[in-house]
Amino acid sequence: MRLCPGPAPAGVDDDAIELAQIYVEPEWIGRSVGSALLEEALRWAAGRGHRRCWLRVWTGNTGGIAFYSRRGFEQVVQETLEVGASRPTVLVMRKELAPPPPAS
Ligand SMILES: CC(C)(COP(=O)(O)OP(=O)(O)OC[C@H]1O[C@@H](n2cnc3c(N)ncnc32)[C@H](O)[C@@H]1OP(=O)(O)O)[C@@H](O)C(=O)NCCC(=O)NCCS
Repeated sequence: MRLCPGPAPAGVDDDAIELAQIYVEPEWIGRSVGSALLEEALRWAAGRGHRRCWLRVWTGNTGGIAFYSRRGFEQVVQETLEVGASRPTVLVMRKELAPPPPAS
């Protein structure tokens, strides 16, 4: 899993943080590892002042899109990327992050 600050696509604020990669080893898929990783990543980002998280997911990855949608990510826009000779279409998704509780 990888979180990246930096420029965001249209429809996403530049102060949002990108969830650039999340991959679970095949034998662990569907066993809650991805949910735990995502939850921890979003908690970490919110704790550092980020109010939004965004990501790109391949439009053919219906399982991934469903995973993110059920965890509060909304669809923003579709983009066509240039990756060598291929032109994959990806979906940009975004989620508002809850601010962390005040320190006691
Ligand atoms: C998407 C991914 C990170 C989710 O991690 P995970 O550990 O499998 O997820 P969890 O066990 O916490 O949750 C399972 C959820 O993922 C969905 N899912 C997505 N792909 C799945 C698959 N191949 N097998 C089982 N469940 C899958 C399930 O429908 C389930 O949804 P729900 O809980 O909302 O009903 C993981 O499936 C993965 O690494 N996939 C391949 C890489 C990928 O697509 N990464 C995202 C690219 S941006």
